[in-house]
Amino acid sequence: MPQNSIHPSLKDKLVLITGGGSGIGASHVAAFCAQGARVAFFDIAREASEAVVAKNADAPGGAPLFLEVDLTDIPALRAGIEAVRDRLGEIEVLVNNAADDTRHTLDDVDEAYFEDRIAVNLRHMVFAAQAVAPGMRARGSGVIINTGSITWHAAFGGLPLYAMAKAGVEGLSRSLARELGPDNIRVNCIIPGWVMTERQLTLWVDDAARAKIKQMQCLPGLVQPEDIANMATWLASDDSRMCTSQIFVVDGGWI
Ligand SMILES: NC(=O)c1ccc[n+]([C@@H]2O[C@H](COP(=O)([O-])OP(=O)(O)OC[C@H]3O[C@@H](n4cnc5c(N)ncnc54)[C@H](O)[C@@H]3O)[C@@H](O)[C@H]2O)c1
Repeated sequence: MPQNSIHPSLKDKLVLITGGGSGIGASHVAAFCAQGARVAFFDIAREASEAVVAKNADAPGGAPLFLEVDLTDIPALRAGIEAVRDRLGEIEVLVNNAADDTRHTLDDVDEAYFEDRIAVNLRHMVFAAQAVAPGMRARGSGVIINTGSITWHAAFGGLPLYAMAKAGVEGLSRSLARELGPDNIRVNCIIPGWVMTERQLTLWVDDAARAKIKQMQCLPGLVQPEDIANMATWLASDDSRMCTSQIFVVDGGWI
């Protein structure tokens, strides 16, 4: 899918993306690289991430920097952000993208699983924002993009803790927008619909799912990872300079 919009304000911007090794995150990496941004990303999937680096090796802003960071380990996350800073400078755009939508039921949940789902789906977004905010404040500008989900808006079953965490992502985004806005730091949230990533196609998108998508979306097309990345590049660019504290839904008109 081609990327048609060019955002000159993204050229040379330092962008950090979490979960950039596959799915939507890999599209974020490619899209920001194509805009001439300097890109760093964290992931735990080494092989997939190295393939993303290779794919974007000739990017105008240079090959993306991959660091193997488990986002559920907050000291490791902080150290990763410090390492990006040491190697590339202050982070100007943070895309909090990584999450894990593994299915579970209410009966599956014990206290350890509860903590685990919060750690992978919400907690790291708070601490990543906390770690980049001082640098953004010092520069007098910055962009944080968090990633929510349509799941809880559409009352999907089978993943209650993921849905709970994703509802939290929206609350976090709006409150941080208020707190960081005076320093010209914009905080927004993208809500992807059902996006045709490799994981979704492998695990869940069968004929019944396609029929459901067709029934629920206003538009007949399927949402692709690039559709989410196109929203993210616009939101990170100066073209959206007066947009903050908002929820941007890219779902073909599902919710
Ligand atoms: N695909 C969809 O249909 C859909 C729908 C709604 C919301 N979303 C949201 O979009 C974002 C991206 O989703 P996706 O579909 O591309 O997911 P994905 O599972 O395809 O990719 C997630 C990436 O994050 C990485 N990751 C997972 N846990 C990690 C950890 N502990 N530390 C570091 N990296 C880790 C994975 O290795 C993977 O590369 C998520 O926030 C997800 O909740 C996706």
